[in-house]
Amino acid sequence: MSHFFITTPIYYVNAQPHLGHAYTTIVADCLARFHRLKGEDTLFLTGTDEHGDKIVQSAEKQGKSPQAFVDAISAQFRALWPQLGIANDRFVRTTDADHKARVRQFLQKVYDAGDIYFGEFGGHYCYGCERFYTEKELENGLCPQHLTKPEFISEKNYFFRMSKYLPWLREHILANPDFIRPERYRNEVLAMLESGALEDLCISRPKSRLTWGIELPFDTDYVCYVWFDALLNYISALGWPDGPDYPRYWPGEHLVAKDILKPHAVFWPTMLKAAGLPLYRHLNVHGYWLVRDTKMSKSLGNVVDPLAMSKEFGLDAFRYFLLREMHFGSDASFSEESIVTRINADLANDLGNLYSRVLSMTAKYCEGRTPACGTFNEDDRAIADLCLTALQNFVQLFGGTQFSQALESLWELVRACNKYVDSQAPWALFKQGDMARLNTVMHVLLTAMRKVALCLWPVMPQSAAAMLSQLGQPADGDTPPACDLEQESREFAGLAAGAPLAAASNLFPRIDVAARAKAAEAAARAEKEKNKAEKAAQKAKAAPAPAEPAAEISFEHFKAADLRVGTVRVCERHPNADRILRLEIDFGEGQPRQILSGLAEYFAPEELVGRQVCAVLNLAPRKIRGLVSHGMVLTAEQEGRLVLLQPGGPMPDGSRIG
Ligand code: MSP
Repeated sequence: MSHFFITTPIYYVNAQPHLGHAYTTIVADCLARFHRLKGEDTLFLTGTDEHGDKIVQSAEKQGKSPQAFVDAISAQFRALWPQLGIANDRFVRTTDADHKARVRQFLQKVYDAGDIYFGEFGGHYCYGCERFYTEKELENGLCPQHLTKPEFISEKNYFFRMSKYLPWLREHILANPDFIRPERYRNEVLAMLESGALEDLCISRPKSRLTWGIELPFDTDYVCYVWFDALLNYISALGWPDGPDYPRYWPGEHLVAKDILKPHAVFWPTMLKAAGLPLYRHLNVHGYWLVRDTKMSKSLGNVVDPLAMSKEFGLDAFRYFLLREMHFGSDASFSEESIVTRINADLANDLGNLYSRVLSMTAKYCEGRTPACGTFNEDDRAIADLCLTALQNFVQLFGGTQFSQALESLWELVRACNKYVDSQAPWALFKQGDMARLNTVMHVLLTAMRKVALCLWPVMPQSAAAMLSQLGQPADGDTPPACDLEQESREFAGLAAGAPLAAASNLFPRIDVAARAKAAEAAARAEKEKNKAEKAAQKAKAAPAPAEPAAEISFEHFKAADLRVGTVRVCERHPNADRILRLEIDFGEGQPRQILSGLAEYFAPEELVGRQVCAVLNLAPRKIRGLVSHGMVLTAEQEGRLVLLQPGGPMPDGSRIG
C-alpha cells in the first residue's frame, strides 16, 4: 500500500485564523481526502508555531504569560478546522514536550556531526521578521518586509553550516524538476541560490534577549531560532527518530504559501541533508489571497473570516470556490461577488441543475430506478469518452495540485451532460414511447453523474455524499466512498440497473443577486443613518465646549495618554468616506500603524507623505466605514482653518510627547 503524508505550515499563534490559513488547510484536507479516496494510507498534519519574540510581545500586550497566551490561540486554530470540514489526523504544537525533545535530539545530532559552530556575528536584525538580514538583502538599508531600519546587533551565536550544502541543493533542484512546484517558485529558489546572498544560518538566540524557546542541548545560555525549531515539526510529529510513523510516512509533501518559500526550500532541505535524512517529496507553493487586490491585514481591517463565509455561502460551496478560483501558485482576489458568481454559474446552473433535472426525469420516466443500458450510439459514446478523459485529467491534475484546472476538466463533462440532456430530449423519447433509447440516455447520464460525485468528494465531502446517496449509493462526508479511481477513469460503468434513486435534488440553490444587493444597500443606509445620528449627538454634546474651559484632569490622567511623534509613510483617500484620509504612520514600532483622520478637506494625500505628525496611540481602535483606525492625529482647528501639530524640528519616530 502506498503512503501519503501532507502538511500545512504550523501557524503562528499571534493572530486569529483567517482566510489565508483556512485556504492552505482546506487544500491540504482536499489532498488528504483525495489520497484516502485513492485508497492510500494517508496522514494529514497541521499545528501551531508557538515560540519566538513575536509571541512574547503579543502575550505581553494581552497581559498574559506566553504559555497561557499560546494555549488559548492554539485552541482556536484546533477548534476551527473541523468546522471547515477539515479532518486532520494530527495537530502538533511546538510547545509540546515531545516536539521539544526531538528538536534537541536533532540539534545534538547536527552539532555532533560538526555542522553547528559557535561564532561572533554582527548583523542587521529586524524584530518584525525575527531574523538577521545581510547587507545585500536590505533595500535602501531597510527591511524589505517592514520597510523599517533593522538594528545592528553584534553577538556570539551558534550557526548551522548551511552554505556547505547549497551547491548540493542546487544540483538536487535541477535534477528533480517537481521538487519545488509550480515552476516559478523553483526558479525563484534557483535564483536565490545563484545570487550568492545566502550564508550560514544563525540558529540560536541568547537567553539574555529571548527565553521563550527550546534550550540548546549543548549550551544552556541559548535557545533555538524559531524557524529551526518550527521546521522540525514535520518529523517530530511522526516521532522521529524512533517512532513507527516516521519510516511509515516520511518523506511526505508540504504545502505553503510563497511568503515562507525560503525556509522551506533552503533551510529545511539543508537541515535534513546535514542530519542524513531523506528530503521531502514536493514543496507545493501557492500564492496569496488578496482582498480586492489589497493585502489582507488586521490594521487595514479587511481580514476575511473563513467561518463567517462558510456559514453565509455554505461550507462545501466555499471550499469549492477556494479551490476553483485560485490558480495554484498565483495570487487570487477574494470578494463575495466572485463567490456568488461561482455558486450561481458552476454549482446552481451546471451541477445542481444536472442533478435536479436528471433525477426528476428518472422519477417520472423510469419509476425512480436506474434503468438498464442498451446499445450506445455515437452521442452516448462521445459522453462516455469525455467522461473517462475528464476523470483521467482530474486525477492527474488534482494530484499535481492544479486544482482549478482539475475542476474545470470535470465541469467540461458536467456542461456536456447538460447539453446531452437537451439534445437527446428524454421527454420526447418518453412521448414517442422509445423506452429503450430513453433508458440508455438516462443510464449514461447517471453513470457520468456518479463519477463526478466521486471526484468531488475530496472538495465537497457532504455534497458529494448527498449526490451519491441520491444515486442510490449511500455515502457520508467522513469515509471515502468505496471505489477504485483508476478503474473509474478507465471503465464507463459503476451503476447497477434497478437501484432506487432520489425523486428530486436541490443541492445548490441559486443566490438571488438582486435581493442580496438590496439587503446590502439597506444595511449601508442603516449604517449611514447610525453614523449621522452619532455625529449629531456628538455635536450636540460638544457644542458648548469651546466657550468653557475644559474640566481639570489629574497629572496621572494626562500621563496615561500615549502621545508620539511619527512619520507619514503612506497617505490616501479612504475608499468609502470622502472626508477621511487613510494614513500609515511610522512610530518606530516595526510596522507602520494605520490611522484614519478627517483631513481630506484640508490636505491632498501626497502633501502629507514624509511629514512628521503628533498622535495619540492608545485610543481604543475605531472602525470607520470598514477600516480600523489605531490612534488619532493631533490637529488644531479654528474657524475652518486646520493645521497639523508637528514637532519644532525632526525627531526620531516614536519619540514620546509629554
Ligand atoms: N509559523 C510560520 C510557519 C512555520 S512552518 C514550519 C508561519 N506562520 S503563519 O501563521 O504566518 O502562516 C503563514 C501561512 O499562512 C502561509 O504560508 C499560508 O499558508 C497561510 N497564509 C497566510 N496568509 C495568506 C494569504 N493571504 N493567502 C494565502 N495563504 C496565506 O509563517
